[in-house]
Amino acid sequence: SDESFIAYAAAAPNLALIKYWGKRDSRLVLPLNNSISVTLDDQLMRTVTIATASPEFAEDSVELNGKPAEVTDRMRAVLQSLRQRCQRGQDLASWKVRVATRNSFPTAAGLASSSSGFADTLRWLSTVARLGSGSACRSLFAGFAEWSAGQRPDGVDSTASQLASAGHWDLRVLVCVVGAGAKSAPSTQAMARTVATSSLLPARLSCLPDRLAAVREAVAGRDFASLAEMSMRDSNCLHAVCADTYPPVHYLTDASRAIIDFVHRLNEASGRVVLGYTADAGPNVCLLAQPADVHLAAGCLQRAFDIGPVVGDLGEAADNSKVPSGWAGDGSEGATARHRIESLLICRLGRGALDIPQAEAAA
Ligand code: DP6
Repeated sequence: SDESFIAYAAAAPNLALIKYWGKRDSRLVLPLNNSISVTLDDQLMRTVTIATASPEFAEDSVELNGKPAEVTDRMRAVLQSLRQRCQRGQDLASWKVRVATRNSFPTAAGLASSSSGFADTLRWLSTVARLGSGSACRSLFAGFAEWSAGQRPDGVDSTASQLASAGHWDLRVLVCVVGAGAKSAPSTQAMARTVATSSLLPARLSCLPDRLAAVREAVAGRDFASLAEMSMRDSNCLHAVCADTYPPVHYLTDASRAIIDFVHRLNEASGRVVLGYTADAGPNVCLLAQPADVHLAAGCLQRAFDIGPVVGDLGEAADNSKVPSGWAGDGSEGATARHRIESLLICRLGRGALDIPQAEAAA
C-alpha cells in the first residue's frame, strides 16, 4: 500500500574456498584476512526474504521459517545501517521493519545459511550485509567472490566483490550432508576463541597471501588441480586452527573425515585431481568437481558410503573406464561400518542475491 514498503529477495549460501576465520574488529565485523568463495545455485538451496516497512509496526521483528526469532544485536546493527542510508525520505527511515525469511535447507548446519538470509535482505550493500554476518557479504555475488579484509579502522574498505562470473567456469559442488544437527560451536564465538588462544593462527595468516594469490590465479586460468589443492589445504588449515583453539572447536565428525580420506584415495588411484573438498563450520563436506567428473564421483561415493537421496544434475552417464581399476572405495577392507551420507546435493555455481517477483517469494 501507499503506507508500506515491501521488498522481496532470494539468495543462496556461499562456500568459502579460502576461509574467513578471526576478526580484527568484532563490532564492525572486520576480518583478519581476505576470503574467497563460490556462491551456490539458488535452485537447490535458497533463502527467500520478504522485508516490510510500515508506519503501523510498533517494533522491528524477524521471522525465520514461520517462527518468530530474536532480533539480535547484529540485526539491529544492520537495520540501523540501512536506516542511515535510507534515500526515500525520513518517513521510511523511521518505520519499523518486519523481516520474514524462509530456508529450503537445514539452518545452522555449517553451510553459511545465516549468511544467505542476511545477504538477500540487504543485497545491495556488502558493507551492510557484513554487519549481519561476515561471510554474508560474499553471497551477494554470482560465481566467485572475494571479501577484502581492508585496513581502515572504520571498515569502509572491507567490501566484497566478484572475482569471476558463474559462466566463467562451470564448476560443480557436491554437498555431502552428513548431519543436519546444529553446529557444535557458533562460528562467531568459536573464531573469537581462536583469536584469543591459538598459537597456530598467526602461522595460518602468514601463509594466506600466497594461497589467496594461487586461488585467484587458478580461477583466472581455470586450473582445477590448483584450485582443488588450495581449497583442501585451506580447509585442513582451518580445522587444524580450530583444534588448536583452547578449549578446542570440533566441527568434523568421523563421517566428514572419512569423506576427506576418500577424496585423497580417489585422486591417488586416478593419478589426477578428480575432486577437491572443503568444510565450513559444520560437519558437511563439500566436494569440488569438474562437470565431466560428477557422475564418476557420485558413483565412487555410492560404493564407499551408505548414501541417501542424490539431488541435482548428475551430468552425463559414467564412463566406467574412468573408474580407477581395483577401486573398492571404502579403504577399509574388513571393516564393518560404512559411514552414512544423509543426502548428496549437486549444485552449479549460482547467480548471487536476486531481487525476485512477489509471486516467486510467496511460492
Ligand atoms: C567457517 O560469517 O558465520 O564459514 O561474521 O561472526 O557471523 P560471523 O561469522 P560467519 O563465519 C563463517 C566462517 C566459515 C568460513 C567462511 O565462510 O569464510
